[in-house]
Amino acid sequence: MAGLIPKDFIEDMIARTDIVDIIDSRVKLKKAGKNYQACCPFHNEKSPSFTVSQDKQFYHCFGCGAHGNSVSFLMEYDRLEFPEAIEELARFHGVEVPREQSSHPRKPGVGREQLDSDYALMEKATRFFQAQLRQHAQSAKVIDYLKQRGLSGTTVKHWEIGFAPPEWDGVLRQFGNGQEQRQQQLLDLKLISANDNGKRFDFFRDRLMFPIRDKRGRVVGFGGRVFTQDGPKYLNSPETRIFHKGSELYGFYQARQAHRHLERVIVVEGYMDVVALAEHGIDYAVAALGTATTPEHIQMLVRATNDIICCYDGDRAGREAAWRAMENALPFLKDGVTMRFLFLPDGEDPDTMVQKVGKAAFEAELDKAQPLSKFLFDRLLQQHSVGSTEGKAALKAAAQPLIDSILGDNQRDMLNTELSRLCGEQDRYQRERDIQRANQRAPQKQANSYNAPKASISPVRTMLRLLLDDPSLAARLPHIDFSVLVESAIPGLGLLISIHQYCLQNPNAHTGSVLEHYRNKPEATHLSKLLQQEFLIDAAAAESVFKDSFKKLLNWHFEQRMEILMTKSRVHGLSTAEKQELNLLMQAKKPATAP
Ligand code: UTP
Ligand code: MN
Repeated sequence: MAGLIPKDFIEDMIARTDIVDIIDSRVKLKKAGKNYQACCPFHNEKSPSFTVSQDKQFYHCFGCGAHGNSVSFLMEYDRLEFPEAIEELARFHGVEVPREQSSHPRKPGVGREQLDSDYALMEKATRFFQAQLRQHAQSAKVIDYLKQRGLSGTTVKHWEIGFAPPEWDGVLRQFGNGQEQRQQQLLDLKLISANDNGKRFDFFRDRLMFPIRDKRGRVVGFGGRVFTQDGPKYLNSPETRIFHKGSELYGFYQARQAHRHLERVIVVEGYMDVVALAEHGIDYAVAALGTATTPEHIQMLVRATNDIICCYDGDRAGREAAWRAMENALPFLKDGVTMRFLFLPDGEDPDTMVQKVGKAAFEAELDKAQPLSKFLFDRLLQQHSVGSTEGKAALKAAAQPLIDSILGDNQRDMLNTELSRLCGEQDRYQRERDIQRANQRAPQKQANSYNAPKASISPVRTMLRLLLDDPSLAARLPHIDFSVLVESAIPGLGLLISIHQYCLQNPNAHTGSVLEHYRNKPEATHLSKLLQQEFLIDAAAAESVFKDSFKKLLNWHFEQRMEILMTKSRVHGLSTAEKQELNLLMQAKKPATAP
């Protein structure tokens, strides 16, 4: 893994980038007043509700709520991971991305050039194996095998399936002939191996070759299948500096190429399953590379589609694999994304199944795949009987941590309701949930807090939103100083102070950079909710509204302080300093306190 990208560099990239350039090169924007507009690329619509603000360096869709800065846009639209989005910005500006030393330092000497050369060599190896499939003396055997597996020439070509020749030095001679540096690279990429005597030979021999492309379409490894029955069926490239099994899915790149919007993705177990499904026109299957489905895989999938269907063998191993995939998926399952399960009859895999029943019948099975809740409870109910109180308790103990780990509020609620129904305590759960909801709606009523006025939007939120919309406000109103308030128990004040400080220290910040500062921090969700709310304060009034809101906060704080001091004076008595403070507060109370 490469080192971390320094924060300064990220901030610099965002400051240099104009979001309008980034978006306009992907989605044609039209000027509309101060902003730009387009039909939203993240949902289907006929009239444009996708708005890009150049001032704020921020986009927002009034239809589907998608929003963010230039980095978020690249992540969502190009489906990149965060570091890749930063690399994309760097490429746009023609600069190199610096990397900090981290717990996974990049091996010394592995720079951009080395990596580019690695990818190029893997690409050439792919072409070499493909050529062997046509030219090698034994190619007839391979072509027979492919035919017998039901694969057409078009599919074989599309998936770039090749043949690693049986000789011990096919790749070695083709690419490493007499060049030590090149041979070292072949060793590093595990295209050749060395034995104890230092003799070098091809890693893949006499195998059907499946090149593995990463998310961005670069060949990073291979899977090689034997033609005979004996020995391990597949040999896969080991991990290398460019190949990390846990973060790639076979077929993901091809599925994304085939569909701009992937309506659904099937997760299967084997290379042959992906290819055979594609042969039958089901071109949206992916497979993990001989490993379990990792959280990283799930993140890729959740970003790419709303409907993930895991299709496994109905046997024990298949069900175990499905269960692990589910456990890994729960923390990423946001509302709107479903995960479903399809178990095939014993002895079948998607490859044999689709050959038997064809596309339409297979897709009909997919439509009927069981929802996550059914898979989860069916299995737990096999292990725990709800016929007894102990059984119910055991079921609850097993299910609750899984349910709690689900990201989406609605999905979590639904499973909780189901769990309560199974445990016969639905009423109680619903009652608890209603109470919780009611409390959330009136957060000011919390114990330990003071009675804040029930304004439709609180001064804290108003100020947060004003700063988010225009961070320069902080610098323009330098006499607004939160230090008086730091001890206050006003909800949300901590975040307000933190953003205010960031804005003061970064007077050129815009909405996009504030969001960037909070990316992946717990506050980020709160900020993005705030930004999605309609906000009707005119920019011209921003300064005075900001000052007024601050005044309200001060008044609240002073009242709260007064209450505390008066209570204390009745119970324990006050110190001299406290008495003075109370006096000042009482005097100040008559006319409204001004900052
Ligand atoms: P399968 O045995 O289901 O493979 O293993 P398959 O793709 O359906 O192959 P065919 O139909 O028998 O030709 C599922 C996946 O597990 C990994 C591979 O990634 C394979 O595609 N695997 C399997 C290995 O890595 N090594 C093995 O020896 C076997
Ligand atoms: Mn198979």
